[in-house]
Formats: sequence, C-alpha cells, structure tokens
Amino acid sequence: MGNINAAVDLQQDGDVAVIVMDNPPVNALGYVLRGGLMQAMEAVRAKPEAKAVVLIGTPRAFSGGADITEFGTIQKQPLLPEVIAVIEAFDRPVIAAMSGVALGGGLELALGCHYRVAAPGSKLGLPEVKLGILPGAGGTQRLPRLMGPVAALKAIVAGTHIPVEKAEGLVDAMCATREEAVAFARSCIGKPLARVRDRDEKLQEARANPGLLDEAAAPLLKRARGQLSPAACVQAVMGAVNLPFDEGLALERKLFRDLVNSKESRAQRHAFFAEREATKVPGMPAGLKAAPVKKAAIIGAGTMGGGIAMCFANAGIPVTIVELKQDALDRGMGVVEKNYRTAVSRGSMQEGDVAKRMALFTATTDWSAIADADVVIEAVFETMEVKREVFTKLDAIAKPGALLASNTSTLDVDQIASFTKRPQDVLGMHFFSPANVMKLLEIVRGKASSYESLARALAIGRAIGKVSAVVGVCDGFVGNRMLHKRSAQAEALLLEGALPQQVDAVVTKFGFPMGPYAMGDLAGLDVGWRIRQGRGTTAPIADALCEAGRYGQKTNAGYYKYDGRTPSPDPEVQRIIAEQQRKLGVNPRTIGDDEIFERMFYPMINEGARILEEGIATRPSDIDVIWMNGYGWPIRTGGPMHYADTVGLKHIADRLDFYADRNGDETLRPAKLLRDLANQGAGFAPPTKAAA
Ligand code: 3HC
Ligand code: NAI
Repeated sequence: MGNINAAVDLQQDGDVAVIVMDNPPVNALGYVLRGGLMQAMEAVRAKPEAKAVVLIGTPRAFSGGADITEFGTIQKQPLLPEVIAVIEAFDRPVIAAMSGVALGGGLELALGCHYRVAAPGSKLGLPEVKLGILPGAGGTQRLPRLMGPVAALKAIVAGTHIPVEKAEGLVDAMCATREEAVAFARSCIGKPLARVRDRDEKLQEARANPGLLDEAAAPLLKRARGQLSPAACVQAVMGAVNLPFDEGLALERKLFRDLVNSKESRAQRHAFFAEREATKVPGMPAGLKAAPVKKAAIIGAGTMGGGIAMCFANAGIPVTIVELKQDALDRGMGVVEKNYRTAVSRGSMQEGDVAKRMALFTATTDWSAIADADVVIEAVFETMEVKREVFTKLDAIAKPGALLASNTSTLDVDQIASFTKRPQDVLGMHFFSPANVMKLLEIVRGKASSYESLARALAIGRAIGKVSAVVGVCDGFVGNRMLHKRSAQAEALLLEGALPQQVDAVVTKFGFPMGPYAMGDLAGLDVGWRIRQGRGTTAPIADALCEAGRYGQKTNAGYYKYDGRTPSPDPEVQRIIAEQQRKLGVNPRTIGDDEIFERMFYPMINEGARILEEGIATRPSDIDVIWMNGYGWPIRTGGPMHYADTVGLKHIADRLDFYADRNGDETLRPAKLLRDLANQGAGFAPPTKAAA
C-alpha cells in the first residue's frame, strides 16, 4: 500500500521525486495504478523541491503493460494515453527506471518519459500483436522515432521481447540500482526536456523513400496469414512516418479501439489466460514448491530422447542420456550436435555456444549415471514390455523422490507406474516432435501421481520453455485422441469423393499451417500403418498408399508427390483412391468445402466434449492450449472449444446429428455434454477474464 493509493508510493530522495509502482504481480496498468500515477504527478507538481522525477517499478516488472482483464470493458479514467501525455508535458525531467520487463503499455509509459534507464537483463517490447491488438498508447508512434521505423516495424509486428542489451536507441543509460537511476535523474536537472514526439531524425530516410517500409512490411504480412493485428501495426507505423505526431496518435487509437473489440483479439486474449490457467491443478495445496531440478536424465537417444535432452541443455540444466548400445548413443548425440550446428548456420545460435551446450551432456550406456538425477524421462520404444524393463530398472537405480516420467504417446501411464514401488513419483511427460522445437507438453497425471510430482513436472515445463497442460490417462491423451477423429474423417472424405488437396486447402484456409495429408506425409505414413497393423484396424486409402511404398516425404510420394519438400497433386493418388472406391462399392460424389470444414473440425470438438465429460481435461481452455501449441490450431480463433462457443453449440450438435444419420456413423453423434449445453443455449466455457 503506497502513500498515494494502493498501487503507487511517492518518495523524495533529495531533489529527486521517486514514484514507485507496486501493483503485483507484474505492475499491470489497471485503473488503480493509472489513477495513482496521475495523482502522484500532480503531487510532484506541487513540490518545487522535486527538480526531477524517477518512475520505477519492482525488480520483476517496471510494468507488464495494460491490464488485459480490462479490455472489452468500459475503461475507467484516466486512460493510459492521458497519463502519458501528462508525463510527457511535465515541466521537469521524468526518467523511467526500467527493470524486469517493460512491455506493451509499460514500455509506452517509458517512451513518454523524457529519459529511460534500465537494469541489465531487462526485457523491453511491444507484444500487443500477440493479443490481437496493436500498441495503443503511442508505442507505434514513439518507437519508430527511437529505433528507426524499419526496426520498430519488425519489433512491433513480431511482438518480440528485446533484451535491453540489444535495444539500440531505447535507453539512455544502464542503471543497475535505484540509486544509480536517481543519480542519472540528477544529472538531467537543468537539461532540455527530451521528448520522443519531437524527434524526427530517424524518420527522414523512410520519408524520402516511401518504398522502404512497404518492402519491410511485405514478408511480415505474408507470415501473418491474414491476421488483422499485424496489418494494423503496419498501418500505424506508416502513420508515424507520414503523419504529424498527433494525427499518428489518433490513427493508432482508432485502430486499437477497432481491434480490441474484434473476435480475433478476444480469442487471443483467451489464449493468453488459458495458457496460464492450464498450469493450475485444482486441489493442489497452495504454496506447494517444486523441488529444483539440478540434473536431468533421459533414457533413449532416438528421435524424442535427443530432442528432450536438448530442451534441458538449452535451459542450462546438465543432462545424462542413457542408451542400450554405444552405436545408438553415438548416432543420437550426432543428431543433437548437427541440430546445434544447423542453428548456428541459421543464425539463431552463436558458434561458441555449441561447445557450451554439448558440455552439459553426459552420454553413456551405464545406467548408474542416472542415480543422482532429479528427473528421469524415458523415451524408448513404444511397447509395454520395454517400458516395464526400463521402469523396473529406474525404480532400482533412481534416487528416492526423483520424478520418473514416460514420454509414451499411447500406453497406459498407470500401468507403467505399477512397474515401480513409487507410483506417486511417476507421470507422463508427453513431448511433441521435434521436442526441442514444439512448445506443447502434455503432463499426464496417473491415478497415483502426487501433487509434488505434478508441481515438479510443471516447474520443469516452465524452466525449459514449454507450454504445459495437465491431462488424464486415456488412449491418445487429449491432443492425439482428438486428432484421431480428424484423421478418421480425412480418410472417409477421400473415400466419398474429396481429394487431398481440396481438404488440405480448407484446413489451411482456416489458418492451420498444414492440412492433414501434408502433415501425414511429413510425419511419415508408415507410422500410422504400423500402429493399425498392430491393432488389427484398417484405413483403406492410407493402407493402399503404404502398400504402394508411398510413405510420405521420405519416399518423395505419399498423398502428394514431392520435388524436395514441395508437394504437388498426384494423378496416381487419384487412381489409388478410385481403386479403393471400386473395391468397396462406393459411388464418389462432389463434396463441398462447407461439408469438409464441418467434418474436419466438428468431430474433434465433439471428442473434446467427451474428454471433458470424462474429466481427462480439467477445463475446455486446456484443450484449446493443447491444440494451439501442439497442432497449429490458429490462435486467432482461440482453439477448438473457444471456437465452438463462438459458432454456437446448437449448430455444431445439429450438424453432427445430420452426418451421423446420413453416414450411418454413430461415432459422429453429439456427446451428451455437447447436446446438453446446446439445449441450454450455453457454451463450453463460462465467461473468463478475457471473455468480456
Ligand atoms: N494484464 C493482466 N494480467 C497480467 C498481465 C497483464 N498485462 N500480465 C500478466 N498478468 C497476470 C497473468 O495472467 C498471471 O496471472 P495469474 O497468476 O492469475 O495466472 C500473472 O500476471 C503472472 O503472469 P505470468 O505467469 O505470465 O508471469 P511471468 O513472470 O511468467 O511473465 C510477463 C510475466 C512477461 C509480464 C507475462 O505475464 C506477459 O507476457 N504478460 C503480458 C504482456 C503483454 O502482452 N503486455 C501488453 C498488454 S496490452 C497493452 O499494454 C496495451 C497498450 O498498448 C495500451
Ligand atoms: P526412436 O525409435 O527414435 O528411439 C527410441 C530409442 O530408445 C532408440 O534409440 C533405442 O535404442 C532406445 N532404447 C530402446 N530400448 C531401450 C532401453 N531398454 N534402454 C535404453 N534405450 C533404449 O523412438 P522415438 O520416436 O524417439 O519414440 C520414443 C518414445 O517417445 C516412444 O514412447 C514414443 O511413443 C514417444 N513419442 C514419440 C513421438 C514421435 O513423434 N516420434 C512423439 C511423442 C512421443
């Protein structure tokens, strides 16, 4: 509690006034903080002894930006642009002393100050685009004036958190402590007030050469695949170059207002809160602290094991990889090193870092090397027999209290836990391929998994930069279980008369980076074929492709033919489909894009409803997190369950009934939860923080 209000304290340090923002956890600029800032500025105005002002936050955050929960509501006065205008117009120097993060409105607040200093390690940025909006408190007008419009455009459209050490032009001095910031402020007394709005020198080049920004914007917009907010960011930065400052501000404000009320932004705000919510486990004792992980071990150096081990090394955590045979170990470590070399050649890693990362690995065939690991993750062959062998060994060797995790994608985690005498320490940590790249981590909670184990798995996910969601045990968990429903429809649609390129086009038009067949070709069609053979199931067209040696990209032919990685439709595939239709006595028909769309997505949503009914996922938004981070579901629609709510559950349930009747396929019948909610006119999700 400050002396101005609940979020702001005003202190005097000799001839410098210090305004301290303290609105935990991240100094979000809600109306209490904004009001406090306004009052504090007025209080300083009345203090002639204050010759300069320092505006400071907490070590964690100068400010994480506007309070996102206020979006979509009628915001209370004063608004952030008004606070910034008062600071910018102040008659004595105001210095922003940044630490932790200065993001969004937080950075915009600092840009409105006359000078900026920052503690080493601070992160600065305008990430609004990730919430489906654009900076709305002058960021699009002031950042280009400090960084130059091209660099600012790239930073704003990407929404990057820029390490202060690389934030050229943004800060006037590095100040590790409050005392240093106050000393800097003292050095500004009597100097002319440096207002960013008055600085035009970095805009001149783009003003003289109007093509410059267009050229920089083109690839950014292409990557944005039609999302509204990146295009608005571009428009506003162009305004910074071409319009007088106040007109640029007005343009930015208008674009901001439009976007805040858009469906896209609502969906992206939902995604923001959903990710944070997914890490909360109902019933977990408050304040339960996860024991730290100082050393990790991975069993198996194959596709997944190598990638998972890289995640730990990338986070600076020593990691031991255990393999059965030396040659498999050498192969696995070779792949790891090659991946790091590729990162260097692409410029995403420094040459010197390769040796540093590799030094964190211990590669061995000696199991005793895992005895001191805090977490062991198993990524060996996917059979229960091999899992039994491995977990029996882990039980004998791992230290008491170590977390024992399986990366299994299909097997019963409870059964795996039963191979040990410590099932409370066992759970699934389901990474996605390539594990060092994909963000999603499904944490599979077994019947016996303890809260300590869950807390630890969540802490590990955070430490290695994953987006985690806790799920229950079932075949395929959440993500793959829903994917199977889509795959079944993908197969059925081909048999009924659609072509791979038609279906893929519908799915990519919705915003997925890839359609189901292109994805199948990338992953390898033989994987599913072997699983079907093991389970005694069939998929006539997929099986026929594999029987013809078409495994996807790796054989240059699958649902498409390939020239390198570029797919093109293949008449041979059409022939194979026709042959299967003949064999099964199916009369192909023309299938419209609307039907394809509904059959791709509604059965998945239906399965999501079943997953909720069974308690496999805690909340609908957890399912959204899984699909947005693991499978490329377009964030601008907020994930399958959020999207379903925007479409209306009655429509979805009715269409599912229609397809179930027409195709005689009871698996398409709406789940009870879906039908019940539809009858009540309700959605899956109760209104959330972002739903306003
Ligand atoms: N508004 C409201 N709540 C916020 C928030 C914000 N801007 N930023 C974080 N929070 C909340 C989170 O929801 C979370 O709440 P919970 O504990 O109840 O789940 C809590 O603060 C802590 O957040 P994290 O778990 O994410 O904490 P981290 O330390 O991992 O990360 C962060 C901190 C980097 C600040 C991260 O929270 C973040 O990226 N926040 C959003 C930053 C952002 O997008 N700012 C722009 C906002 S829009 C804007 O400023 C508009 C302006 O242009 C007008
Ligand atoms: P892989 O075949 O590439 O690698 C498995 C490795 O485990 C091999 O190097 C093998 O030598 C080693 N191994 C086998 N038995 C062992 C033992 N007893 N002790 C030590 N090492 C042993 O397999 P992949 O693809 O890495 O899969 C591993 C696990 O990850 C499986 O459970 C799989 O279901 C799961 N998974 C796989 C995904 C994928 O896309 N490949 C995605 C998510 C999970």
